[in-house]
Amino acid sequence: MSAFAERIERELVSFLPESENESVKTLIASMSYSLTAGGKRVRPMLAAEFAKLCGGSEDAVVPFACAIEMIHTYSLIHDDLPCMDNDDLRRGKPTNHKVYGEATALLAGNGLLTHAFGTVVSERALAANGAEKCAAAAAVLAEYAGADGMLGGQMIDLESEGKRVGVDTLKIMDRKKTGALMVAACKLGCISAGADEKKLSAASEYAENIGLAFQIVDDVLDITSSTEQLGKPVGSDNENEKSTYAALLGVDECRRIARELTEKAVAALDVFDGDTKTLVDFAYYLLDRKN
Ligand code: IPE
Ligand code: IPE
Ligand code: MG
Ligand code: MG
Ligand code: MG
Repeated sequence: MSAFAERIERELVSFLPESENESVKTLIASMSYSLTAGGKRVRPMLAAEFAKLCGGSEDAVVPFACAIEMIHTYSLIHDDLPCMDNDDLRRGKPTNHKVYGEATALLAGNGLLTHAFGTVVSERALAANGAEKCAAAAAVLAEYAGADGMLGGQMIDLESEGKRVGVDTLKIMDRKKTGALMVAACKLGCISAGADEKKLSAASEYAENIGLAFQIVDDVLDITSSTEQLGKPVGSDNENEKSTYAALLGVDECRRIARELTEKAVAALDVFDGDTKTLVDFAYYLLDRKN
């Protein structure tokens, strides 16, 4: 995994747009600032692992993996804005709007989102995957990043602030705001490899379960971790009166649920003939992660 993580760092930079115009250069610098600030690169790794598991190639999935990380990074830039979670630290660095200002941060997010679609239909993506798979990848990005996907989850999150919402609403919210991009990542890997429906559906089930577990763990870490370790402010959810699993059910119950979901995710991998050890280990790494 770690050789791929290093590759992704280089590839992300190589996909960034270029311009001679000074204002545009500033915009691209702000996009690059957040994209290269680090991060665990969970979604690109998922895309690559599913591609390999389904018999595809790492070279072919790279543009898709970079695109999903661009969309994820855009979601973080906007999530941190004062009108959203109003956070000052991300990936161990000042948030985009703290460095470039709110208006540029807004454009940087828009830039990364737009560029993600350009990336899945780039010459490189087309040459390695063919037009049909690239079109399918674009459709997946639109569906899972869109209004009934990540964005819808963010909307539920905002509307649940300061309220006591039930666990059913939390589940829908977390599946959309966090699970959706995980599902998209796994599907992108399968699409690049030309996997059949059965594999796509098993990959989605794995992703839905680790996705929900991931957000539950994120909410727990917001309570139990430190800002140094997380690279983002702790206590942010409490300050914003967020409705989270952790606030509703407590830390211990959350840890139990997250483990159960991880086990479910791992069970979904039974469908695959290949070696699923990396994806099994990855699910448990995400469960026990410290940041
Ligand atoms: C943070 O995602 C936002 C959530 C969906 C909880 P990550 O924890 O994957 O953030 P990075 O990419 O490693 O910074
Ligand atoms: C963020 O959830 C989900 C998305 C960015 C789509 P959080 O608001 O909990 O993420 P962090 O804790 O700021 O990373
Ligand atoms: Mg948020
Ligand atoms: Mg946030
Ligand atoms: Mg959080």
